[in-house]
Amino acid sequence: MKIVVAEHSGFCFGVKRAITTSSELALAKGRVYSLGPLIHNAREIARFGDSIRVVNSLAEIDKEFSDSVIIRTHGVGPKVFAEAEAMGLEVFDLTCPFVKKAQQTAADMKADGLQVVIVGDKNHPEVEGIKAWTDDSAIVVSCAEEVGLIPDADKIGVLAQTTQQKRIFDDVVDALSQRFGDVVVKNTICDATTKRQNAAAAVAAEVDTMVIVGGKNSANTKKLEQICQSQGVSTQLVEGADELNKALFGGVITAGVCAGASTPEWIIEEVVNNMVEMEKMGEEVVAEVEESFGDILEREETRRDIRRGSRLKGVVVQVKNDEILVDIGGKSEGLLQSNQLMPEEAADIPAHFAVGDEIEVIVLKKENKEGYPILSKKMVDQVLVWEKLAAAKEEGTPVTGKVIEVVKGGLLVDVGLRGFVPASLVDIKFVDDLKEYVGKEVTAKILECDRSHNKLLLSIKAVLLEELKAKKEALMEEIAEGQTREGVVSRLTNFGAFIDLGGVDGLLHVSEMAWFRVNHPSDVLKEGDQVNVYVLGVDKENQKISLGLKQLIPNPWTLVEEKYPVGSVVQATVMRTAPFGAFLQLEPGVEGLVHISQLAHERVAKTEDVVNPGDEVEVKVLDIDVENKRISLSIKETLPAPVKEEVVEEVEEEEVVEEEAVETHEEELGTTLGDIFPDDLKAE
Ligand code: F3S
Repeated sequence: MKIVVAEHSGFCFGVKRAITTSSELALAKGRVYSLGPLIHNAREIARFGDSIRVVNSLAEIDKEFSDSVIIRTHGVGPKVFAEAEAMGLEVFDLTCPFVKKAQQTAADMKADGLQVVIVGDKNHPEVEGIKAWTDDSAIVVSCAEEVGLIPDADKIGVLAQTTQQKRIFDDVVDALSQRFGDVVVKNTICDATTKRQNAAAAVAAEVDTMVIVGGKNSANTKKLEQICQSQGVSTQLVEGADELNKALFGGVITAGVCAGASTPEWIIEEVVNNMVEMEKMGEEVVAEVEESFGDILEREETRRDIRRGSRLKGVVVQVKNDEILVDIGGKSEGLLQSNQLMPEEAADIPAHFAVGDEIEVIVLKKENKEGYPILSKKMVDQVLVWEKLAAAKEEGTPVTGKVIEVVKGGLLVDVGLRGFVPASLVDIKFVDDLKEYVGKEVTAKILECDRSHNKLLLSIKAVLLEELKAKKEALMEEIAEGQTREGVVSRLTNFGAFIDLGGVDGLLHVSEMAWFRVNHPSDVLKEGDQVNVYVLGVDKENQKISLGLKQLIPNPWTLVEEKYPVGSVVQATVMRTAPFGAFLQLEPGVEGLVHISQLAHERVAKTEDVVNPGDEVEVKVLDIDVENKRISLSIKETLPAPVKEEVVEEVEEEEVVEEEAVETHEEELGTTLGDIFPDDLKAE
């Protein structure tokens, strides 16, 4: 159970100041009187024991006990101060500064000739005190409807009890303006109250049950209770931890706590700690509820005991968009509001319920203001869901649910109940941005399912790992040498690429990528590419698979003779130059050599004088040796023959250079040009 404590809960500034000063006084003086209870919290007052004695009037003061008196935060009228002085009492005025301001405002309005109107509770000591500063001439109204009862007046000045609701104050101001025209308005509402009320409403809207901590005779605390109840949430008002009704926590996922301005921190803490303890006793709560369900079944239908915590079967008699009326027997119809349904049901009530449906509910409250028992189906369902989830954990069955939100350290997933997936268990790989999961449906394994601690720990990664393992096993079972498989390039290295074949990576060595020489795998592939690969070998024991890519592409050398017959003239690209000639590419994977003597008709001193890498040239195919993957090409043969001049010396020189080049090339190739050139060429 998650416990949310509303902001601003507990002592307000005025009360804190009064309590602190009173404690100091009690210590310093030993005994002191308080005119009226210091605050509306009997437990806090009890802490002072007899060091602070409460009297309701100065007349009750016995100077033998103490001649000091505290004026509490609510303040008093001027007559009381005068009386105390006359009695020779030492007065400690702890009137809240905001109340003092309201008193002063009222006195000023009266001095200005205005008819003072106070919006508040006429029996509240604070209002009585403010009124006293107008010589009791102020008129107190509690709502706009009472404005009509105010006698005619020339000028009206209106202010508020500090804890008044702003809405009511505004309504009264409107009504006064309509009736009296110009009205002097002084908003003396203290925002401590508004802040507590707003925070309580905000928390109540988000939780399954609310606990209001405060004095039962405190108007503010009662107001907080009303505000929470108006949100349709089950609400209990307690003065202390011992009053908590644990039956109301059965099946609760989130509980809210708020406290009025006169509730000390230690009581709030005690209540929260008790709720945490109660969570540990969750099993007991459920057992108790279930026990009461058993009792009820034994009773006659017409005599059903509709009491808080009872688990009943009922029949839907009316379906609205935001609530359902359920016949729970005993001539009673209970109200099932949307916040007491499972989230998916609450999202569209008419789609999930129809008149005549039989449902199980727990009674949260015997009756609301209109006399309807307040029911919860969610609590029953949650018990069932816990049971289902516990069984799923036991059997190792994964559960599916939608990701609701990203929380600190992971995801919250709705699998009937809110389960937590730590960030490290969201995926096999690291997830950079968890937000992308929100709204998505995920399947997860239950790692921990502890109803008593309201703990549901899930792992999506566990499901993914299991799936991966199954895939791997299946793949290793069926994969065989000679197959063609689809895969995705998962990683590139200097020596090749790893291809994900669906759970298992195979290695595609760089030498198996293409028929031509590949300098780096990234020249051919990039990560994420989808490729078809050929299975060259499978080592099942070590789960290693070697793959090839070029095997699925025709070897260009098998078509060379057909595509480039001897004597044909084709287009080629100069790839590299060497002292003995240039290597030209006819197509990827097919290169031929233009010997330096075949570069031009005239004598060529340096290959680069005629061609350079990247040049596109026409060449004539002189010879093809498929077995050794060699092609002899000639540029000279594609050029018109020049007029021949016999310069014997030059020819001899040329022959010497040619012989040297041939030797060098033969060394480089590891073979002789005699192997490459046809016999007739050798004879020349
Ligand atoms: Fe004062 Fe506001 Fe508290 S008037 S006593 S600070 S609620």
